[in-house]
Amino acid sequence: MIKIAVFASGTGTNFVALYDHIKQAQLPIEITRVICDQPKAAVLDRARERQIPIWTHRLKEFEGKEAYEQAILTQVQADNAQLLVLAGYMRIVTQVLLNAYAGKIINIHPALLPSFPGRHGIEDAFDYGVKVTGVTVHYVDSGVDSGPVIAQQPVAILPEDSVESLAMKIHDVEHELYFESLCQVLRDQGLLTVQDNG
Ligand code: GAR
Repeated sequence: MIKIAVFASGTGTNFVALYDHIKQAQLPIEITRVICDQPKAAVLDRARERQIPIWTHRLKEFEGKEAYEQAILTQVQADNAQLLVLAGYMRIVTQVLLNAYAGKIINIHPALLPSFPGRHGIEDAFDYGVKVTGVTVHYVDSGVDSGPVIAQQPVAILPEDSVESLAMKIHDVEHELYFESLCQVLRDQGLLTVQDNG
């Protein structure tokens, strides 16, 4: 079994999409745990409903960001997680995780990076007035939504679009692209084979 940890801070629709795809495709991938920095986030209920273990603590419970990430690292290593999958995790990852999981942390962002990084990628693209935005999956480095791109998919912004309709289109793309990209990364890393059908 390939073991991955999903990091999230909010609603968790990307976590659910990954979970459903993995189950439907019957792939040998186990989401060992959801790591969450917001103990009241909806993603935690979604994890509990699916019997996925959780780790949730606020940063302020720890002496600092490094201590916080060290606690996360201890947990994901105890779970033998091989890849860290950020799905709406609204924190900048520090060297603690970056060093331990070099080249093994991926993120999804709701814009075509390097345009519109940060917490409001959808709204920022809409407000700017670009005609095309999209979704990016990338390896994580120490920046905000930066690091080598794995996959991108454009989404047109039509004259009749609102932020809400655009967000729906973006999320629909995310829910497919993240799973495809995850399989691609696992194949590239030799963890998933063609026989697994991933
Ligand atoms: C997703 O749209 C994801 O791309 C975004 O947070 C949302 C989480 O939704 N991430 C970022 O903006 C990273 N900068 P979800 O909790 O429903 O999966």
